[in-house]
This record gives sequence, structure tokens and C-alpha cells, in this order.
Amino acid sequence: MAVNLDWENLGFSYMKLPYRYLAYYRNGQWEKGGLTEDATLHLGESSPCLHYGQQAFEGLKAYRTKDGSVQLFRPDQNAERLQRTADRLLMPQVPTEMFIDAVKQVVRANEEYVPPYGSGGTLYIRPLLIGIGDIIGVKPADEYIFTIFAMPVGNYFKGGLTPTNFLVSEDFDRAAPYGTGAAKVGGNYAASLLPGKKAKEKDFSDVIYLDPATHTKIEEVGAANFFGITKDNEFVTPLSPSILPSITKYSLLYLAEHRLGLKPVEGDVPISELDRFTEAGACGTAAVISPIGGIQYGDHFHVFYSESEVGPVTRKLYDELTGIQFGDVEAPEGWIYKVD
Ligand SMILES: Cc1ncc(COP(=O)(O)O)c(C=O)c1O
Repeated sequence: MAVNLDWENLGFSYMKLPYRYLAYYRNGQWEKGGLTEDATLHLGESSPCLHYGQQAFEGLKAYRTKDGSVQLFRPDQNAERLQRTADRLLMPQVPTEMFIDAVKQVVRANEEYVPPYGSGGTLYIRPLLIGIGDIIGVKPADEYIFTIFAMPVGNYFKGGLTPTNFLVSEDFDRAAPYGTGAAKVGGNYAASLLPGKKAKEKDFSDVIYLDPATHTKIEEVGAANFFGITKDNEFVTPLSPSILPSITKYSLLYLAEHRLGLKPVEGDVPISELDRFTEAGACGTAAVISPIGGIQYGDHFHVFYSESEVGPVTRKLYDELTGIQFGDVEAPEGWIYKVD
């Protein structure tokens, strides 16, 4: 490997890699896209993505396996979620085949930046779809850019598999009950910056959001989904129209049932019933599985398994998921895409 980075201590930061993919949508269709070395987007000052938030993004990873090859985890699911987000914001869909082909092009072109097997690092891939062009009224763009860039990353939350603590946001929501919470659009994240900052100032890893209609049920954990393990071996995770349907979460629901023999449950998670859970965690592409040590809700601090040690079920889920992603454990059919 020609590139020499501190692979074990990457953190989660932007790094400008040599190549990215770019395609334009004009005259009602996608033009042929390709790789470019230009890391700056060129767009008009009136582009709807800048003014009215007509933009969407995705996040997925490429993994280096023991034999040195590189693979993707369920990129078809990211393509489909981007299509659902595009529908919600009246943007053109990026076809699944075009999406996966573009992801592979970016990974191949920057292959030496895929961290070595065993370092804990991965190549984080960021697809972005934005409305551009000369429009000033509130209406959808006629033209779009679809771009994908990537960078090597390590842990998203500083603890890794060490539990960290989270603060329930009582003053702010990230999304409205039937707004854009289930879509991966920048506006949700803009809304999360202030509560996130307040939580981090108090030394919490991030915010836990409650459902925006009643503020009684857990929705999301910052940029990750919530799960809890009950005494009766249930894997429980919230179901709501205002949370982002996490691909990691749906993968864990499957693995919990088919590999660990747990009962998968998607439903309400009342903030008043945390005692049900022996363990809890946050899950997502960036977060992987990050154990939750404790949750601060008003004056009450609720500790799950332990503030310093990951629980046994969470660890098993982590080993199964990351084993599949890094190619050490057999994957359910269709989950792994090789980048040849
Ligand atoms: C708000 C939010 N929730 C959940 C997730 C986890 O989703 P996934 O597992 O598909 O990465 C993410 C990250 O993509 C997110 O930004």
C-alpha cells in the first residue's frame, strides 16, 4: 500500500482523496458521469439546494477483507433510500445500477485509501444529490448534480466499543411528525446542530431525540438509530415515520433473529420504560454499534448494562455485523458487493 496514514487512529474527518464521481441531470435525464480530480462543485448562486434545501445524501462504507480485497455492505439499500428521499423532495432518482457502479468507480480509483484489514478503519463513501440551476421561486430544480466522494475513517463516537452517555433533547426536535425525518436530507441535520452542540458541551456523546408529536418515545440517537435488549431476549428498536430507516438497524433486526436467536421487535420505546432494557446501543453506518452507557433525561441518569463495559449481547451483535462487513463471517445472501 503506497499511502501511509495512521490507520488505527483515523477518527471521522474529511480528507480530500484524489478522485470523486460526478454526473449531471439535464433535459430530463442523467448524462454519462465519470471520475474527476476537481473537489470543488461549480453551481449557480440561485441553485435550489442552497436556498431551499433541495438536496439529499447517503453514507456507506467499503471494507478491506483479510485477503486484501475490498467489499461494500448493502449498497443497493443506500441506492433505494436515496430514491425514496429523492421522491420526497421531487428530485430525479439515481437508478440503483448507476449508483452502485459510481460507488465502485470511486472506491477503485481511491483504493489505496481503503484502510488495511485489522486496523478498524474503513472507507466512508458519501453520495450527494443536489438541485442546481437558475431558479429563485420555491420549486424543484430542472438540473441536478450527483456526486460521490470518499475518505478513510475510524470511530464516529469517541468510545468505539466503550459505552458513552447520551442526553435526551427536551427543547428541540430534529424533524416534524410527518416532515422529512425519514429522508436523508441536510435540513434534518441543520436542525440537529444546536441540540448536538449543547449535549457535547455537557460531555455527552450526542442527543437522543423523542418523538416530535408527544415527546414520550425514543426516536433516534444523533445520527444513529436506537436499540435495546430486554431481559426476555428481545431486540427492540423504535418504529416511527420521523426517524431515518437505518440500514444497519434493519440488518441487526435480521441478525438478532437469525444468528443470535433474539426476538426482533420494532415498536414504541417509551422513555419512561428504560428499565426494560439490560443493554442499549446506537447503530448506523458511521456509528457501527456504539453501546450506550447511560441516558440523561431531565434530572434522572439511567444506566443500562454498565458505564464502562459493553454488554454481552451488544458485543455479539457487533462481532456478527462487523464480521460480515469485513468478510470473516458468512453474509446473508445479497448483502456483500465485491469491488473487483
Ligand atoms: C439520523 C440518522 N439516523 C440513523 C442513521 C443510521 O443509518 P444507516 O444504518 O443506514 O447508516 C443515520 C446515518 O446514516 C442517520 O444520519
